[in-house]
Amino acid sequence: MNVKFAVVGCGSIGKRHAAVLDADPKASLVALCDVNQEARESLSAAYGGVPSFADFTEMLESTDADVVNIVTPHDLHAPMAVEALSRGFHVLVEKPMALSSADAARMNDAAARAGRKLWVVKQNRFNVPVRIADEAIRTGALGRLFMVKCNILWNRHQGYYDDSPWRGRISREGGALFTQASHFIDLLTWWAGDVVSAKAIADTQNHHIETEDSGVAAVKFDSGALGSIVWTTCVHRKNLEGSVTLIGENGTIRIGGEYLNKLEFWDVPGMPLPDHLEFTDKPNSYGKYQGTSSNHEKVIAGVIADMEGNSATSVEGAEGIRSIRAIETIYASIRE
Ligand SMILES: NC(=O)c1ccc[n+]([C@@H]2O[C@H](COP(=O)([O-])OP(=O)(O)OC[C@H]3O[C@@H](n4cnc5c(N)ncnc54)[C@H](O)[C@@H]3O)[C@@H](O)[C@H]2O)c1
Repeated sequence: MNVKFAVVGCGSIGKRHAAVLDADPKASLVALCDVNQEARESLSAAYGGVPSFADFTEMLESTDADVVNIVTPHDLHAPMAVEALSRGFHVLVEKPMALSSADAARMNDAAARAGRKLWVVKQNRFNVPVRIADEAIRTGALGRLFMVKCNILWNRHQGYYDDSPWRGRISREGGALFTQASHFIDLLTWWAGDVVSAKAIADTQNHHIETEDSGVAAVKFDSGALGSIVWTTCVHRKNLEGSVTLIGENGTIRIGGEYLNKLEFWDVPGMPLPDHLEFTDKPNSYGKYQGTSSNHEKVIAGVIADMEGNSATSVEGAEGIRSIRAIETIYASIRE
């Protein structure tokens, strides 16, 4: 099977989507869209003159793509996904799925009405340490989860916000929980369940932006687990830590490194670590800063497997909405 993809948003991570699609023998990149002429034309030129469009609707009207990858600023995820789904395309949307659970629900409804698939990019679920920890949880080896502790201690320089028309804006980006923390909150809700209550505080400490750049949340999950989430983009000079510690009834796991790329502690008596474990995850690099893991090729492979009717590994909208609800609950507590 060959699956045809169109990509809207040819910015930092749109380039990675194009590269991954170009490298996958089961995928074809058939259209690109960006309002920025230089962005769309340079990416089109890099991939043999793929047809490129300034207008999203025009691209949807012209392309025979099977899947539309939405890689635009956060406020555009919901309207673009609903439009593409309603026109009969499958959709792969970048994180965060949307800026509200109401928007995420509208996207899921549009997919159900159209009988099309809606997936959300959650590439950190494929990180080697994350997969091993997931196995320990799914098989019951870790036992009941008591506590989860998550630290996202990163650096983003002021230019990261200043050079962008949407980052750091409440209505367009939503805040650091939607941007930097959403990968981590996805893992917490995947493992510990939905956030049922939160007490959180946040502040804007070292950037000239509308949104928070630092926060601390204490949360309770519906599994009964308690958790803490500490997030900041204010770390001096470079990313320091992206970690999740899991305190279970039968063991303890700490996934760390800068972006959940290392297993820093493992004590799960019922599940010894395999010999010769290799930690191969690499970060997405954007010149002046680094993001989380670059496992987008695994997300695309999961989408194609799903299209082929094989076991799906990519996250769908019904699951994607859970981290949006958790983020909403934490921001509601901050506003209180
Ligand atoms: N999964 C990950 O690790 C990861 C990493 C980086 C970014 N992201 C997500 O990807 C998305 C894009 O982030 P980015 O860093 O590439 O942002 P970016 O600002 O670098 O790129 C966004 C692109 O969208 C284009 N755009 C804006 N409005 C448009 C419109 N109406 N029609 C067509 N194009 C439009 C912009 O011109 C820009 O080129 C965000 O949701 C972000 O959170 C995910």
